[in-house]
Amino acid sequence: MEHPQPDPLLSRPRRILITGAGGQLGRALREAFAADRVVALSRADWDVTLPPPAGLPSPDLVLHAAAWTDVDLAEDDPQGAAAVNVGGTAHAAALGAPLVTFSTDYVFDGRKTSPYVESDGPNPLSAYGRSKLHAEAAAGARAWVVRTSWLFGPAGHNFLRTMLRLGAERDEVAVVADQHGCPTYVGHLADATRALVDGGLPYGVWHIAADGACSWADFAEAIFEEAGLECRVRRITSAAFGARAARPAYSVLRSEREQAPRLPHWRDGLRMCLAAIREGSPHE
Ligand SMILES: NC(=O)c1ccc[n+]([C@@H]2O[C@H](COP(=O)([O-])OP(=O)(O)OC[C@H]3O[C@@H](n4cnc5c(N)ncnc54)[C@H](OP(=O)(O)O)[C@@H]3O)[C@@H](O)[C@H]2O)c1
Repeated sequence: MEHPQPDPLLSRPRRILITGAGGQLGRALREAFAADRVVALSRADWDVTLPPPAGLPSPDLVLHAAAWTDVDLAEDDPQGAAAVNVGGTAHAAALGAPLVTFSTDYVFDGRKTSPYVESDGPNPLSAYGRSKLHAEAAAGARAWVVRTSWLFGPAGHNFLRTMLRLGAERDEVAVVADQHGCPTYVGHLADATRALVDGGLPYGVWHIAADGACSWADFAEAIFEEAGLECRVRRITSAAFGARAARPAYSVLRSEREQAPRLPHWRDGLRMCLAAIREGSPHE
């Protein structure tokens, strides 16, 4: 698809509409764009499977963070996942403003052994991955499609918070060691999203994920170490874990685009996130 150059979004403050504002990325985007006039919409304000509600102010920019993110549940209800991810993205694009939409490393099949770049061909293994790939197309031509991975933040549902809870309750947890990716701190991703928009970088697909890579088991060990929790990690295979949806064995994302915002290492993101939890995040 041919992408037009973005219009400059220089007038301040801009009116920015954030969907999925109650989710972990949505909360971080609210903080990163706090200098703008933000209209933060939760699912109660706008169910994105439906057209936008009447009376919504016309935005200068839409940050579309609402999504069906339960990868396993999507296998049981692929149409439900598509209604939110594909239909919701089409509705967000129909607002007519430049759009940032978020996609996933799960659009890839994980057969590569070196990082996935924007020109690599997608081949999703799951209903969730397929819905996100169709959502990329539904975003239209005036959109930055940010593919990211393994998100974690101080609030909401994520692997880090699950490990902090389990690590405080148990002596040992079994964690998958044969999937490799980039655990990405939502605060770093939100800052990079602002850099993409403020830098007037071209629309199209951008890979933006933390530097470095690890397995879920490595990530769990680092969480326990940084949080000072005495909990062992028993390394298991994806087959032994038996999740409903297939996930890529290797889904490290890197950008081949020269101007792409680069994120800090995932371990720095982990430390930042733990510090935010200790300080009590404003959106906690
Ligand atoms: N989480 C990851 O590891 C990951 C990795 C790669 C890419 N991404 C992508 O990054 C984006 C943000 O993900 P996230 O981790 O912030 O997800 P999240 O914490 O699950 O937030 C998603 C938000 O979307 C809302 N939502 C769900 N269905 C909706 C609907 N029909 N209408 C309006 N809002 C709805 C949810 O509301 P409720 O709380 O009410 O359900 C939630 O607030 C998504 O596009 C996701 O696909 C995530």
